[in-house]
Amino acid sequence: MPDTTYRSPRLTAVAKTAMLVAAARLAEAKHEQPVLTDELLEAIIGSSGEVVAAMRQCIQETQQQEREDGVNHVASFTSVRMKFGDSQLVQFRASHVSFQVVILGAGLDTRPWRLDLGSGVSIYDIDQKDMTEFKNARLLAADAQLQMDGKTHRFPLRCGSWKGVPLDLTGSWLPGLLLSGLSTDVPTVWVAEGLFYYMDQEAGSALLKTMASASTPDSMLIMTHLNHALFTASQRFISDGDFPTDEKIKTFYSSWKSGMPENVGGYLASCGWRVDSQQLMSEIHKEYGVQLARWKNTAEMRRKYEPELGTLDYWVVVAHPMSVIVDKS
Ligand SMILES: C[S@@+](CC[C@H](N)C(=O)[O-])C[C@H]1O[C@@H](n2cnc3c(N)ncnc32)[C@H](O)[C@@H]1O
Repeated sequence: MPDTTYRSPRLTAVAKTAMLVAAARLAEAKHEQPVLTDELLEAIIGSSGEVVAAMRQCIQETQQQEREDGVNHVASFTSVRMKFGDSQLVQFRASHVSFQVVILGAGLDTRPWRLDLGSGVSIYDIDQKDMTEFKNARLLAADAQLQMDGKTHRFPLRCGSWKGVPLDLTGSWLPGLLLSGLSTDVPTVWVAEGLFYYMDQEAGSALLKTMASASTPDSMLIMTHLNHALFTASQRFISDGDFPTDEKIKTFYSSWKSGMPENVGGYLASCGWRVDSQQLMSEIHKEYGVQLARWKNTAEMRRKYEPELGTLDYWVVVAHPMSVIVDKS
């Protein structure tokens, strides 16, 4: 029997952001025509008081926006970016039988149990130690299959293998991943959603270069990042001191350490990646027939900073390794 009791985890503030984006996905799953459903996610954290509160707030806010804007479906950006990543993985699967997926800053991503990628695919989740341990415990409690043990599970793995690997992605992480089984001779899809802005640009660039160095030429990168305008505005928002009452928002923006440089293609090329597609979140959601949920306080930020900085937005990029890494940094 799965364990339905839930103990509030002792997670770092950054790892807790995984709970918040997961709560937004649970809210989306309750929509009558959801972009994504996620039964395992519900089983993992659906009984957490703080997640339920965050989920209810998301539902309230999206419903209010639907009424205000007169639209049928407002969805969180986390559901849209997850759906986009899913479709890229499914497309990759159509041309590759055997490959690896590395989900960096995986948080409560449940793709190994949700997406049917087949037995030729090995998936590695990387996250900080506290999140990896928390997720493992909750997966076990939900009766998710963690390895090919020949037993029946409530949530069977839908890929060849899965491993949760506790690593700090701002440190020397590749040796640990290789020890866990990653092969540099097999194509890899690197997925980094909602991760890069928690590290400074130097660490982000080092991460990109290491991924490229461990990739076969037909590997792929799916990454998201704040656009330059959004990151710059968020930092001015804190330092200008115009919004002194909202400490929560200030703390949230203070956890952001970098945004994507303005020249996306040039920057990624300097880190070993050739951009295949770069799309803004304000465009991508249209593919899924939904309106994007507004971020809190962004109305004031937009009014104040967009005339100077341009549209505050969020990049979703797909790239492939370049054969030669040109370091322009
Ligand atoms: C906003 S959450 C996104 C989680 C997941 N990708 C998703 O979209 O649901 C960011 C995740 O990145 C992880 N993270 C941040 N910095 C990290 C680092 N230096 N090393 C490993 N994981 C990190 C956090 O622990 C957290 O789980």
